[in-house]
Amino acid sequence: MLEEVKELLLEVEKFVPKSAIELEGFRLSFLGKKGKTNELFAAFKEVPSDQKKDFGAAINNLKQLVQSKIKEHKDSFEVEAENSEIDLTRPVALDNLGSRHPISLIRNEIVEIFTRIGFTISEGPEIEDDWHNFSALNTPKEHPARDMQDTFFIQTNPDILLRSHTSTVQVRYMNDNKPPIRTLSPGRVYRNEAISARAHCIFHQVEGLYIDEDVSFADLKQCLLYFAKEMFGEKTKIRLRPSYFPFTEPSAEVDVSCNICNSKGCNVCKNTGYLEILGCGMVDPNVLENCGIDSKKYSGFAFGMGIERIAMLKYGVKDLRLFFENDVRFLKQFSAL
Ligand code: PHE
Repeated sequence: MLEEVKELLLEVEKFVPKSAIELEGFRLSFLGKKGKTNELFAAFKEVPSDQKKDFGAAINNLKQLVQSKIKEHKDSFEVEAENSEIDLTRPVALDNLGSRHPISLIRNEIVEIFTRIGFTISEGPEIEDDWHNFSALNTPKEHPARDMQDTFFIQTNPDILLRSHTSTVQVRYMNDNKPPIRTLSPGRVYRNEAISARAHCIFHQVEGLYIDEDVSFADLKQCLLYFAKEMFGEKTKIRLRPSYFPFTEPSAEVDVSCNICNSKGCNVCKNTGYLEILGCGMVDPNVLENCGIDSKKYSGFAFGMGIERIAMLKYGVKDLRLFFENDVRFLKQFSAL
């Protein structure tokens, strides 16, 4: 019997609980009602009287040791529990969520403004042939206006190229649809330009096309004024300057009043009070005919703008390259917009 108690003493000495639960199990197995100490006390009666003294001392010893073990470890688990206590009222730490790219934000905004007045969205391939990028648009081979858009050719004869504008999509759309046409073609375009703060060899455009009976230049002007006010604010004014594009006649470049200086002149608008935002014009009858539309019955207007340019003006970004570097410090500034 005494041997048994000695073994238990050794067991208790070696015991190191790993958790509060384990410690509680240990307590019950020794000090619980049916625990080992009670069992030993019950067995005490059977012990011969000459051994009672030693046996009694041994059990008491065991009980004390168990109690001090429990006390020693209980405190440490309590401190731990306090530290790891879960506070359900604490605000959740939000994950670093991604956000839309500023170019997507502006594209969506432009698309939304025009869909409100009945434009639909059309898209087309980025790899194009000569016909859709140039010839159908009144820019036949050897036409000097081809130099306006320094193009990346993938293959010559027959010419396959990276589209230099999304007017290609309008050609496709006119081939496939009958007037009235109101379509908007956003997309990525490519030009062989040296990369700088104001130019890139890849950029994004939104082009619009409106064809119906009796469409006039006044319709074009009003449509663009509506866009400018929606995009840059109610007070925005527009200014049209005569220009040249082979696919429109007459053609114009459109400026919006500088909303940074209220047209008083600043370094963003180079003291002119206006900022150029797009090119436009009445669709050349040759283009309509090339795309199977009767130019005697129908007329229309077209316009095209660079999304990066609009984004630079709207967000006050001075270097276009930032849109392509995808530096998170730059991109995350637009997440709440
Ligand atoms: N396609 C022209 C460009 O990329 C823009 C434009 C479109 C001009 C439609 C006039 C009419 O420069």
